[in-house]
Amino acid sequence: MSAKIIDGKKISESLRLSISEAVKNRKEGTRAPGLAVIIVGNNPASRIYVNNKKKACEMCGFYSVEYALDENAEEKELLELIERLNKDEKIDGILCQLPLPKQIDENKVIDAIAPEKDVDGFSPVNTGNLLSGKPCFAPCTPAGVVEMLKYEGIEIAGKHCVIVGRSNIVGKPAALLMLRENATVTVCHSRTKNLAEEVRRADIVIAAIGKAGFITADMIKEGAVVVDVGINRLENGKVTGDVDFDAVREKASYITPVPGGVGPMTITMLMKNTLESYNRK
Ligand code: GUN
Repeated sequence: MSAKIIDGKKISESLRLSISEAVKNRKEGTRAPGLAVIIVGNNPASRIYVNNKKKACEMCGFYSVEYALDENAEEKELLELIERLNKDEKIDGILCQLPLPKQIDENKVIDAIAPEKDVDGFSPVNTGNLLSGKPCFAPCTPAGVVEMLKYEGIEIAGKHCVIVGRSNIVGKPAALLMLRENATVTVCHSRTKNLAEEVRRADIVIAAIGKAGFITADMIKEGAVVVDVGINRLENGKVTGDVDFDAVREKASYITPVPGGVGPMTITMLMKNTLESYNRK
């Protein structure tokens, strides 16, 4: 079998088109949805992500504003900026690109963003609501994974989903979102015993480890759906996922590529959350 490749770029484009239609068709004379993007320091990967997020805003017809703070910026300066944006009526979403320089406490920053503008879904209010099944902003990457599966018509209910990775941004919220879709969920991590055996039981694998080619074909059940969240830069500059794509493709029924899989979906879900925040007002 050769898996169907799930084209995250194509799915994203179609979702962004419907978002931009909704923005175009808003009530006459009203403002567009607004996203504030904060970047601190010179992390090259963060710069690329932030540029892509701003580009997506343009495509969707959003108002977007970037705040670029110096690598040595003090925590207080960032917290004061967030406080201002929390009150800014033109702003529906606030995104502070992570990671932050070490003089700044990431948790304090996440806590400072008003939950109703926390379109990243990282604040304690949103993560708590996700846990208890209440309406919330879900973190964009795992929300994008679920969206992709649904778009492809892949059944989730009753399926065994194995997530490899337990980060706050991907692994843990992915587990909650897949539970919400009635999957049976296993979360594996660096201390899991017999990891290959666990992954072999999966109908749906979500790989979010951060190690190039970690998921090999021998770990995959024939016909499984494989979602690769990894973004790893190789020495030759190429970007690759956590899955050994060429070999796994021969066993899986569906597979997401890197690049062009989950990555574009993450940004699209950010647009979706921002539009939702705007519509709630
Ligand atoms: N850094 C890596 N992924 C993300 C994300 O989804 N949001 C933010 N704000 N920072 C990130």
